[in-house]
Amino acid sequence: MSRIVVTGRVPEPALQKLRAEHEVDAWEGSDSISRQELLRRVAGADAIVSLLTERIDPELLDAAGPQLKVVANVAVGYDNIDVPACTERGVVATNTPGVLIDATADIALGLILMATRRLGEGERLIRSGQAWKWGMFFLLGSSLQGKTLGIVGMGGIGQATARRAKAFGMEIVYQSRSEIDPAIAAELGARRVELDELLTISDVVSLHCPYGPATHHLIGAEQLSLMKDSAYLVNTARGPIVDEAALALALREGQIAGAGLDVFEQEPKVHPWLLELENVTLVPHLGSATVETRTAMAVLAADNTLAVLKGEQPPTPIS
Ligand code: DGY
Repeated sequence: MSRIVVTGRVPEPALQKLRAEHEVDAWEGSDSISRQELLRRVAGADAIVSLLTERIDPELLDAAGPQLKVVANVAVGYDNIDVPACTERGVVATNTPGVLIDATADIALGLILMATRRLGEGERLIRSGQAWKWGMFFLLGSSLQGKTLGIVGMGGIGQATARRAKAFGMEIVYQSRSEIDPAIAAELGARRVELDELLTISDVVSLHCPYGPATHHLIGAEQLSLMKDSAYLVNTARGPIVDEAALALALREGQIAGAGLDVFEQEPKVHPWLLELENVTLVPHLGSATVETRTAMAVLAADNTLAVLKGEQPPTPIS
């Protein structure tokens, strides 16, 4: 029997799977586990099931010890894990791709609609108690039909967002490291372009690339200046892909029309300039936040953990 440390609260079906075969030490606190407590708990663990709020770095791996075999992140993004440090120590790192595609694409489409149709502004207006009435020019937004959606990062979530946007009558262009499957490109009518062209021609830009050194501040002042002043930026990927200060300035100066953000540079902090703006919709990292999706993510992380502990190939290793 191995010892598994779970760094935060996860849905019960995942814990049941783990407990059926191993000893499980799961953090039950409603707040995130403190770093000090985590360093203490991982000592002697054979497996760590981690949440994206926990940093898995050399210090933590060494605190766990040489018997550690697997770090199973309950997230598709793994910028919280130092993967080379895991590899150096012979620790397998896994993530949860696939199971959160639809939930995240739904939130991307939701943010596109909230931003372009000014739904957040309308909601805030009513809640503020201010007088309002229907008016020909009251809170006019922008239609999606016939507009161009530029997708940055055309993996599963990017493609699912494109599929939804196509149903709303949008044209799709994308920027990606490689061409997507030609059959999918044909189904979506999607054309691959360079990032600068995508920024220049899109009415909505939606970010779906992974975060890492290559994508840090991929969208900064220079890139925002390429966008149309009627365009919108949506980010459901990772906060630091966008330079938040530059985005706030672009929004304030009307360089772009609006934005929808599910992720932030220094979560849970939000740049104070963004908080002052009406033309940005802000939601607190809800991309995968459905009961079904979070359960599927946690169960996949449990399956990854159990496979490695059995000496088998896990379903979704980080390559
Ligand atoms: C992920 O899985 O990376 C998401 O950001 C979690 O919601």
